[in-house]
Amino acid sequence: MISKKSSVLDLSVERQRKHVFFPWAKQLHAQGFHIIEAKGVHLTLFDGTKVLDFNSAVFNANLGHQHPGMQAAMIAAAQNACVTHPALIHEEKIKLGENLARITPGKPFEGLVKSFFCSGGAEANENAIKMARLVTGRHKIVTRYRSYHGATLAMMGYSGDYRRIPFDGVVNGVIRIPDPYPRGSGQTIDTVRLLEEILEIEGPETVACILLEGVTGANGVFLPPADYWTRIRQICDKYGIILIADEVMSGFGRTGKWFGVDHFGIEPDIMTMAKGLTAGYAPLGAVVVNEKIAQHFENETLWCGLTNYGHPFSCAVANAAIEIYQQENLIDNACKRGLELQALLQTLKNNNPYIAEVRSLGLLAAIDLRKSADDERPYVAYRAQGEEAQKVQALQSALLKSGVYCTVRFGTLILAPPLCITSEELKHGIDIIAAVLQETLGK
Ligand SMILES: Cc1ncc(COP(=O)(O)O)c(C=O)c1O
Repeated sequence: MISKKSSVLDLSVERQRKHVFFPWAKQLHAQGFHIIEAKGVHLTLFDGTKVLDFNSAVFNANLGHQHPGMQAAMIAAAQNACVTHPALIHEEKIKLGENLARITPGKPFEGLVKSFFCSGGAEANENAIKMARLVTGRHKIVTRYRSYHGATLAMMGYSGDYRRIPFDGVVNGVIRIPDPYPRGSGQTIDTVRLLEEILEIEGPETVACILLEGVTGANGVFLPPADYWTRIRQICDKYGIILIADEVMSGFGRTGKWFGVDHFGIEPDIMTMAKGLTAGYAPLGAVVVNEKIAQHFENETLWCGLTNYGHPFSCAVANAAIEIYQQENLIDNACKRGLELQALLQTLKNNNPYIAEVRSLGLLAAIDLRKSADDERPYVAYRAQGEEAQKVQALQSALLKSGVYCTVRFGTLILAPPLCITSEELKHGIDIIAAVLQETLGK
């Protein structure tokens, strides 16, 4: 018998399917994700199942759901709303520029100093690349293979993620370099030395920027060697190449510091951000640049702008979010809970032969699965089709049914709970994951 809830669920899914696309999906098989309540680190699904949100919505709900401080700030921002104009002078816009100059790397107001606002992460990267091209007069862009920088046409073209493949060729001058993570074979190559060799062949005087994620996110939570960023910084300085850190996923406390690059002690020339900037409560992206780049545009035109540039509502929401990160010590909490998560994951791996590797920094973590307990290598199902795709989907559904929502991509689980999670909630979530892996893979 179909319960009242499930029949209404069917109705909503079908209504939505009729006139609205589901992203990243064959529409016929897209299942949607119907939430009737979200509070703190929990989601309640339509059938009443309460799940731990180990995905922070889409890696953006860093403050958790329905945060009372955010709700109050949004009500106030709506009451003070004014229609935006790109050149509008507005207190919230001014304040957000000041806040970002304070929390980004370098001495406050002496490191990254000036912000350009847009609607999300892909747009932030697009504008950062435009600035790098305008400043250097060069056109080539270096990115890594394991990278995701957004879904606009150009950012698909620059990303390494396999989702770029239908759009290959839309940008020219993209140079993708290998990632500095030994995988499977255990062999390491010095990818920074390789980068220098590639630059010599390409002609460094043609390269505008190197765009790297602060910490590789959607492609598997990979951490580079400790000196990686410093060496990349040195190469950029040597050849006059602009270093852009994409902190869209790794920013705003996700890794236990304000930004991913803060772990590596360097200052990029440009940082891009979105997601945690408003903790998901409003759409906003930002490009924050250093003095050198800001200076360039004093007497040169910044050929960048949008209708919703620095929307006062979104800026007010971002300012409120930054205040809450600080007031509630959430960056510190992410760091402390992150160490607990690391220990829990190590125990999980030690007890489960079908886990090949676990990696984490702060509250951003990955669990690489094996196809079977005897396989040495991680199970990498890029572009999984047919039976393989069904297996991935089945694992995600089993996790959801048992009480954890997280990304399952290729053969990797990616975990990123809200920064306000407690030790108990974290442990409970990992216990659920352990039980589900045992049930689905341990047979
Ligand atoms: C590292 C990184 N950059 C850029 C983006 C694109 O952000 P948006 O979806 O807001 O355009 C994402 C989104 O997941 C991301 O993870």
